[in-house]
Amino acid sequence: MTVHLVGAGPGDPELLTVKAMSLLQHADVVVFDRLVSAEILALACPTAELINVGKRPGTSHTQELINDLLISLGRQHSCVVRIKGGDPFVFGRGGEEAEALARAGVEYTIVPGISSAFAVPAAAGIPVTHRLVSRAVTVITGHCAQGSQSVDWRAHARTDSTLVILMGTERLATIATELMAGGLDASTPVAIVHNGTRDEQHVLRLQLHEAPFIQASAPSVIVIGAVADLDLRDPRQLAQLVNAR
Ligand SMILES: C[S@@+](CC[C@H](N)C(=O)[O-])C[C@H]1O[C@@H](n2cnc3c(N)ncnc32)[C@H](O)[C@@H]1O
Repeated sequence: MTVHLVGAGPGDPELLTVKAMSLLQHADVVVFDRLVSAEILALACPTAELINVGKRPGTSHTQELINDLLISLGRQHSCVVRIKGGDPFVFGRGGEEAEALARAGVEYTIVPGISSAFAVPAAAGIPVTHRLVSRAVTVITGHCAQGSQSVDWRAHARTDSTLVILMGTERLATIATELMAGGLDASTPVAIVHNGTRDEQHVLRLQLHEAPFIQASAPSVIVIGAVADLDLRDPRQLAQLVNAR
């Protein structure tokens, strides 16, 4: 009687962990989110019940309902897999689900996943840190829950860190404008990686001052900083970096 809080990785089924795959194959029930692909769900035990709790505007799956569902399933089945995109604890509300299960006395495990915050830039050839270019990385949500404190973008403009923004497409114009108001150079490179690691992966590269005029769609990871100019899938760029040492 265990609920496993499992990370599905960024989308490519080959980036699923061995542990996640094995749990899927043994699951009685799989409770999944919008970002978990059909290819990954196809790996589940053929007799497993699949329950979609993906949150979209207008749907009724509040976090409280999902918590209650997990508690109830955890009391009925020996192996419940609660699978989410990326890592369950990176903007995934896995922490809230773990707390709810613990309070209800339902056993659970945590199975880390490869987060899109790092894997999606990497799949586009962008190293979020690089000894010659950036020594720090900050992962930020572009979307704040109602009532929570909003992100101080001007303060982030003053750090020397690569900024990796998740859930930032809708507020891209505000984010870029605030970063520039905080002093970040208007020519700072930006990369928007849409559907990273999937067949439909698409990368858009621009400068910060162009970002307010871009219509980006979800799911995308936005990278802001000098590394966003790099594409290390291209051996010529690697050669340039080596020569710069
Ligand atoms: C609710 S957050 C969940 C993050 C997830 N827990 C993780 O560790 O990757 C969803 C956001 O992750 C990003 N994301 C997840 N998968 C992605 C992908 N394959 N390509 C681009 N962005 C992705 C997008 O910014 C999306 O809006």
